[in-house]
Amino acid sequence: MIAVKAEGLVKRFGPFTAVDDVSFEVGEGAIFGFLGPNGAGKTTTIRMLCGLLQPTEGRATVAGFDVAREPDRIKESIGYMSQKFSLYADLTVKQNLEFYAGIYRIPRKKRAARIDTALGIAGLRGLERRLTATLAGGVKQRLALGAAILHEPRIVFLDEPTAGVDPASRRDFWDLISGLRGQGVTVFVTTHYMDEAEHCDCLILIYAGRKIAEASPRDLVTRVIRGEMLEVSGPPPGKVIARLAPDPRVRRAQVFGLTSRVLMEDGPGASEALKGILAEEGWPEARVRPIRPGLEDAFMHLIEREDERITAEGGRTR
Ligand SMILES: Nc1ncnc2c1ncn2[C@@H]1O[C@H](COP(=O)(O)OP(=O)(O)OP(=O)(O)O)[C@@H](O)[C@H]1O
Ligand SMILES: [Mg+2]
Repeated sequence: MIAVKAEGLVKRFGPFTAVDDVSFEVGEGAIFGFLGPNGAGKTTTIRMLCGLLQPTEGRATVAGFDVAREPDRIKESIGYMSQKFSLYADLTVKQNLEFYAGIYRIPRKKRAARIDTALGIAGLRGLERRLTATLAGGVKQRLALGAAILHEPRIVFLDEPTAGVDPASRRDFWDLISGLRGQGVTVFVTTHYMDEAEHCDCLILIYAGRKIAEASPRDLVTRVIRGEMLEVSGPPPGKVIARLAPDPRVRRAQVFGLTSRVLMEDGPGASEALKGILAEEGWPEARVRPIRPGLEDAFMHLIEREDERITAEGGRTR
């Protein structure tokens, strides 16, 4: 079963194209990761899928309902956690959930049980009377998730639910996401964190409003990164990159923290060849070791390639 289907979605704000011909399908019960740098068009796409923003072109269905024609049916079927925290700071945890139970028109008789379930799922038992303003960032986000699932939606949209949250709380939050999937809920989530993207069943990368890749995390890396990936430590990465970038044996060279990551042409002896180049440049002491490329490498590669394409097109205007 298909939970979400987008076909040629476009959103323009005046002359600016924020989302440019984006299509995809999300299978029921999957964790679907929507990735892209700031301003890529993630929130705009989610808002169209949630029936909050009319697409300029294209169409989409969520839980079988058309986003343009049946936005009210969609709102009943989904949970939406917006990028901006939308609960009331001056209400307690329980009062916020009661408020949202009203918004979702949960019948009065069922409210107490639903709120109790949401408190359990979000790990908030014992915090019912805490003022929302006093909660730590990770707990606030769990509360926002609890509010988004009060009406037991089969599909949830989470827009950067872990932004700015500490690593331990981010892990806790992903345990909640896995728990939801375990119950058959479809999770559509955006994130900037690569370790989180690894947990998704399928990823889409959007950049400048366009979809530039779609695959499982593993396939994405193996499809995109062809060649031998080597890490250089020792010499200053900025200088190493500047020297290596024009070399024909080097496919790509990028700064990665305090090291440089170099993608060499396929073929034997890549490591020796690189050591040779580095020695010629006066860095005989440089350490070179093969590394397994990850999602971040794949994304940087794809974005660079897209930038080259945009430049070749003469600088696409959005
Ligand atoms: N109502 C609007 N009017 C004009 N431009 C808008 C509007 N909403 C969004 N945009 C622009 O559309 C582009 C995409 O914005 P969007 O919020 O969808 O990006 P995003 O991928 O969610 O980014 P972030 O990671 O920062 O949340 C941005 O350049 C943004 O400034
Ligand atoms: Mg956003």
